[in-house]
Amino acid sequence: MTSQTLREARTYEEASEKFIKKEDRPDFHLSTRTGWLNDPNGFSYYKGEYHMFYQYHPYDSHWGPMHWGHAVSKDLLHWEYLPAALAPDEFYDRDGCFSGSAIELPDGRHLLMYTGVIKERQKNGGFCEVQTQCLAVGDGRDYEKYENNPVLDEKDLPEGSSRFDFRDPKMWRKKDGTYCCVIGNRPADGSGQILLYTSEDGFHWRFKKILASNNNRFGKMWECPDFFILDGKGVLLTSPQDMLPQGFEYHNGNGTLCLIGDFDEETDTFTEQHNQSIDYGIDFYAPQTILTPDGRRVMIGWMQNWDTCGGHVQENLWFGQMSLPREIFIKNGRLYQKPVRELENMRSGKVEYQSVLVSDTINLEGIKGRKVDIELNIWPEDEKNVYHKFSVRFAQNAQYQTSVSFRPKESVLKIDRKFSGSRRAVIHQRRSKVNHENGRLKLRLILDQFSAEIFVNDGEQVMTATMYTERAADGISFCADGEVRMDVVKYDLI
Ligand code: FRU
Repeated sequence: MTSQTLREARTYEEASEKFIKKEDRPDFHLSTRTGWLNDPNGFSYYKGEYHMFYQYHPYDSHWGPMHWGHAVSKDLLHWEYLPAALAPDEFYDRDGCFSGSAIELPDGRHLLMYTGVIKERQKNGGFCEVQTQCLAVGDGRDYEKYENNPVLDEKDLPEGSSRFDFRDPKMWRKKDGTYCCVIGNRPADGSGQILLYTSEDGFHWRFKKILASNNNRFGKMWECPDFFILDGKGVLLTSPQDMLPQGFEYHNGNGTLCLIGDFDEETDTFTEQHNQSIDYGIDFYAPQTILTPDGRRVMIGWMQNWDTCGGHVQENLWFGQMSLPREIFIKNGRLYQKPVRELENMRSGKVEYQSVLVSDTINLEGIKGRKVDIELNIWPEDEKNVYHKFSVRFAQNAQYQTSVSFRPKESVLKIDRKFSGSRRAVIHQRRSKVNHENGRLKLRLILDQFSAEIFVNDGEQVMTATMYTERAADGISFCADGEVRMDVVKYDLI
């Protein structure tokens, strides 16, 4: 039975969505139907379609009592909204249905697992949020919360772990038909850990072990974990709060962390070997992955960050979009990312230039737009006298621009949106150390109205940033300090 709270949300979103003009939204990135969106939730393939749920506050473009919004897609790029799936309407989740995941049960039902939140008054008069794990079962549109919720609570925590930070279950079904899930938690040392739980049927869960411990190395609490085997390695993705930068890694306070290592399936033991940021730009958080029917591991993140919310143009109507879905793989021990190949089906209007000399600022006929896929190869005109700097400016007019610039002598790639039109002092720049051979660099830049995703060296790194620049600013120019040769191919995305 649909509760009154959910019915109200469904009525509200349908009515208020009409006030948002299609052209004021991104085109092929999923944005909130109305109000506010944060983390991707319940990303799954179910009955022939990709389902994406999301942390959702339909009534306001700021965070509030969390619902689950819902959309479906056949190709991960064209999304259709469905009615909100969950609302905070039970005694165990009345203050929020926080992040979680989804799988298909063998009987064909869609199982959602999420964190139920209730506020508890503390002795000092303040409130803490008690977090438990809850289930809902449905048909891809309507979901019933499970009668025995919550299915995991403080009794299921290891000694000394906090019941106030116990959230974001990511489930999967193993080949033997049993189930696992990983959940973020705060242990006694005040930082983060990832707990592993198992189940025979998806409904009865028990604690198995601590899969990974932060030990105060990477920020504090680890949110939104995901764990899977990729190219023979165990991969743990998580989004730590309160990170400190380490060299060129982890520059966002609310950052992203990828741990790669060996995983022993007999003992469920994960041995870390490598750590890195997932995204090196400004706006990326809480990613979730799925395995597509054709065996690709695809990741989507919230294309925003708790450190950077604010200053958006459509402030009153909507705020929040997802990143491009990215195929991920391991190469040279690192996490690589590429836009899903389905994006290539949207390419049209190819414009190509080869070996253009850039020695000042140039514009190229036919190269402009805010919904484009651009491939760039650059190299020094003179191998012995390598240029100082190369930049691409986009979302540009006389007043505004966002840019990506590369300084080969420092091996630093920088994204800068200081002049993108934001009236807030949100974070404007990010730098990343990149690999190159004597100033040779490969970039792929994807723009979709209010965002830029830059894939470096065939996916070795990605920098993601939103830019809420007015749509009329659609210029693109290239600029060099020194002499650069450039191959450029541009496609419009339609
Ligand atoms: C991450 C997060 C999750 C939580 C949700 C609440 O962005 O803080 O840990 O479940 O957002 O909206």
